[in-house]
Amino acid sequence: MSEKLQKLEDLVSLCKRRGFIFQSSDIYGGLASCYDYGPLGAELKRNVKNAWWKHTVQMRDDMVGLDCSILMHPMVWKASGHVDKFADLVAECKKCHTRTRADHLADAQGNTTEGAKTAEDLIKKICPKCGTTGQFTEPMPFKLMFETQMGANADDSMTVYLRPETAQGIFANYRNVLDSTRVKVPFGIAQIGKSFRNEVTTKAFIFRTREFEQMEIEFFCKPGTEEQWFEKWKEARMSWYTSYGIRPENLRMREHDKDELAHYAKGCVDIEYLFPFGKGDWQELEGIASRTDYDLRQHQRGMRSVTNWIENGRDAVTTPLKAEDADWAKGPLSYFDEETRERYIPYVIEPSAGADRGTLAFLVDAYTVETLENGEERNVFKFHPSLAPIKAAILPLVKKDRMPEKATNLYNDLKKYFPCFYDEKAAIGRRYRRQDEAGTPYCVVIDGQTNDDNTVTVRNRDTMKQDRINIDQVKSYLREKLDM
Ligand code: GAP
Repeated sequence: MSEKLQKLEDLVSLCKRRGFIFQSSDIYGGLASCYDYGPLGAELKRNVKNAWWKHTVQMRDDMVGLDCSILMHPMVWKASGHVDKFADLVAECKKCHTRTRADHLADAQGNTTEGAKTAEDLIKKICPKCGTTGQFTEPMPFKLMFETQMGANADDSMTVYLRPETAQGIFANYRNVLDSTRVKVPFGIAQIGKSFRNEVTTKAFIFRTREFEQMEIEFFCKPGTEEQWFEKWKEARMSWYTSYGIRPENLRMREHDKDELAHYAKGCVDIEYLFPFGKGDWQELEGIASRTDYDLRQHQRGMRSVTNWIENGRDAVTTPLKAEDADWAKGPLSYFDEETRERYIPYVIEPSAGADRGTLAFLVDAYTVETLENGEERNVFKFHPSLAPIKAAILPLVKKDRMPEKATNLYNDLKKYFPCFYDEKAAIGRRYRRQDEAGTPYCVVIDGQTNDDNTVTVRNRDTMKQDRINIDQVKSYLREKLDM
């Protein structure tokens, strides 16, 4: 019998016990909504990011990669709209003064109100801290960007922001990429990196944190072709998740209603995953937006405003952007198509995923508790082999009869090709269980027969069946099974 994850708490405790994920600053009592990845977690998350990079950059001829700095010119955030508009509406409980995101407040039935804007929208909502119903202030905007000061001297220091998304680094480098590579529209730029948001409500382990990693794409296409690219990216991103083992029944696409869309957006969908919060909760894993030429146009305006910004003082990020010129389509961020002799500002499709949220989905989907025939329970992470932190464990059956030496030799050879683990401590059954909990797809055991005929057993994590093969074939066997 096998069971999937029922409660998130079970995953949280297994992740801590086995060194996947720890609370940040644990020894000091923890820092809310920040998490650290332990030895197994760091490998898992790196594999998730590598799988994304492989599919979105390495295997495509129309994509290139980028790695931008976290701190950027403040005008970037003025032009993008983040300085003025990147905020959540929060309401304060009049009794206990706890602030909560207005759209996260729930009534007795657990219903929230998407787009809640006034205290009237909150009359049936309950304060999550003190339980009082309907006693909230009018919701007010709470800015989500973290600010910091750059520069040692008071006269040249200025306020900069920890980026709240990686996307703007791509827009700010779009011209550099065009000028330094041979890309031609349609093409995309991908980036993986840290983002920071001073979230009002943090939630559910690594689902919503204040420091997180994003995996973002800006795909630039000719106006008029955006619908076809939007469809292609929706399909490509859904199949990426299922090709790495997410069960299709746990994944769905939700189209945004017209009133959820930004004024410039032509369409937006969320790829949602059925997370085990409460009784099961569909939550956003990734957003895919059709953003027109809005971002490039905004940065073109922003570029014109920089002189104004410097003249008005370095901290004057509120300086209004200059009105748009009539010939904006010929501006510095426009694109000239050599073949058709047309100049235009490309439209953009933006698939934007979270590396931590994705890692959480892969953990949840792989988590399995099985009751074996002898009544024993085993926890096993059934990760896709490409995502598994360790690919093979090398285990001498006992610590004698030259088994450790043979196992060490094999381990030293294999570790050049795959992340491997050597373990000679404890009974073999316990060592198998430990590798099941780490999600290791194969365990190679050197036993008494190895001395006689040079064979070893290779145990499959999911079926627990064993193959006996020659020790010299282990590398090619694993290569084939792991597709590496
Ligand atoms: N550039 C578009 C953008 O940033 P978003 O929907 O705000 O869009 C994209 O974020 C993805 O980033 C989300 O689908 C989610 O996976 C991840 N993400 C956003 N905020 C997060 C947070 N506070 N903690 C963890 N992941 C987050």
